[in-house]
Amino acid sequence: MNDILIAPSILSADFARLGEEVAAVDRAGADWIHLDVMDGHFVPNITFGPPIIKALRGSSQKVFDCHLMIAPADPFLQAFADAGCDYITVHQEAGPHLDRSLQAIRGLGKKAGVSLNPSTPETTLEYVLDRLDLILLMSVNPGFGGQAFIPAIIEKTRRVKEMIGDRDIRIEIDGGVSPETAPALAAAGADVLVAGSAVFKGGSEETYRQNIAAIRTAAEGALKAAA
Ligand code: DX5
Ligand code: ZN
Repeated sequence: MNDILIAPSILSADFARLGEEVAAVDRAGADWIHLDVMDGHFVPNITFGPPIIKALRGSSQKVFDCHLMIAPADPFLQAFADAGCDYITVHQEAGPHLDRSLQAIRGLGKKAGVSLNPSTPETTLEYVLDRLDLILLMSVNPGFGGQAFIPAIIEKTRRVKEMIGDRDIRIEIDGGVSPETAPALAAAGADVLVAGSAVFKGGSEETYRQNIAAIRTAAEGALKAAA
């Protein structure tokens, strides 16, 4: 059983002070920094790309967890690797050659992740399991922060956990994660919890610390209760 990791999504940060916000969640207890890259094509929103990530790299030594909501992804993998991403996650739905994308990410010396939209079955990953370091289950439709959690993802998490067996693959959940939804997710086998609005609400380092601790305590409480 892996420890629970909390990955604040900077999509909910103050974009005018992005470097300071990354440093603040780092000091406030973030395990990973989650970077939501959107292209206005695969998802109906646009955020940021490699130059911004590169500029943020100096603000934290923690794992940069890059969630690519872009299609195609392959032509940009090198740029995200060069920008300092540690995990690079592509969407299963973003291209026809998932196996190739995953090989390319590992070929760049990075950890390889795949993300599934809420409606995409986990069985689409059956034949790429040995190429994966991370499975990111979307628990909202990707594109925006602050949406309502989709409860069906709890059962999906359980199925993914069963499917990966004893492979060293992390299960990350993204969308609507809060102290209320974290316990069921942790109990189902999730070990990386992304949270945007639930971390950045309050707008100060002290509130970020409380918000991260509240999600972690809720998730770990569920694991202790199950043990
Ligand atoms: C949505 C992004 C998420 C988002 C989560 O497309 O992938 O990372 O920031 O935001 P919350 O935690 O507010 O649902
Ligand atoms: Zn994300």
